[in-house]
Amino acid sequence: MNADSLTAGLQTRRLGRRVVFADEMDSTNVRAVAALREEPLPEGTVFVASIQSRGKGTGGNRWYSADSQGLWASVILHEPVRYQPLSFLPCVALVDVLRQDFDIRAHLKWPNDVLVENRKLAGCLVESQLQPDGRTAWVLGLGANVNQTCFEPPIADSAVSMRMVTGGTHRRVDVFQRLMCRMEAIYDGEQSLVALWRERTEMLGKRVRARRGGRDVVVTALDLSPEGHLQVMHDDGSQEEWLARVELEVE
Ligand code: BTN
Repeated sequence: MNADSLTAGLQTRRLGRRVVFADEMDSTNVRAVAALREEPLPEGTVFVASIQSRGKGTGGNRWYSADSQGLWASVILHEPVRYQPLSFLPCVALVDVLRQDFDIRAHLKWPNDVLVENRKLAGCLVESQLQPDGRTAWVLGLGANVNQTCFEPPIADSAVSMRMVTGGTHRRVDVFQRLMCRMEAIYDGEQSLVALWRERTEMLGKRVRARRGGRDVVVTALDLSPEGHLQVMHDDGSQEEWLARVELEVE
């Protein structure tokens, strides 16, 4: 995998047309944010690494990406952004690619986890950066497990790869190009990301266990708000909206 193979024959107008590739980066998100601090970058520029030595997950977690078996990529989008919440875009697009092109029954867990059955195949971390020209750019970091055959603790039982589901290996370039095409189609399309997200989840209506304010709570996941917040109901009937990501388990 290199910048040429990632862009050769790519059928998009903007997304992925310019790739910044290295065999190893500390984190594609960190590199993208650092580059945006220096100069504005064209929308659709993507940072890709075969290996990340310090992959970043949400909530300050580490993202396990120290081998070249996954797709580790950060896509740059500009303001103004028509579709919110933008963080839904990569994972909604990836679910479509997995279902349509690889026959993998993937679904979404709020806010940005791609699951197969109950194991995590991909996650998304969005960051923003003010560019020297005064505009805000968004960095949409997506980590997707592609060809791993197993995972080490602490994610041994909670992670899964495309290969573990299908039994075959997959070209990361192929996953990348299909993902760029689907992301661009959704980004340029008319449908709301919240509606698209809702159609690709199995968690609404289910009981959800979460860690909130230092204690475990069990609630029912009702729906998403127009902003993409999770609307939940407590057992006493009271309702609440969760804005920030929380560690949650669908029962
Ligand atoms: C999560 O914790 O679910 C989000 C994981 C996001 C990982 C991706 S891999 C590419 C990009 N670079 C990073 O350092 N993190 C994101």
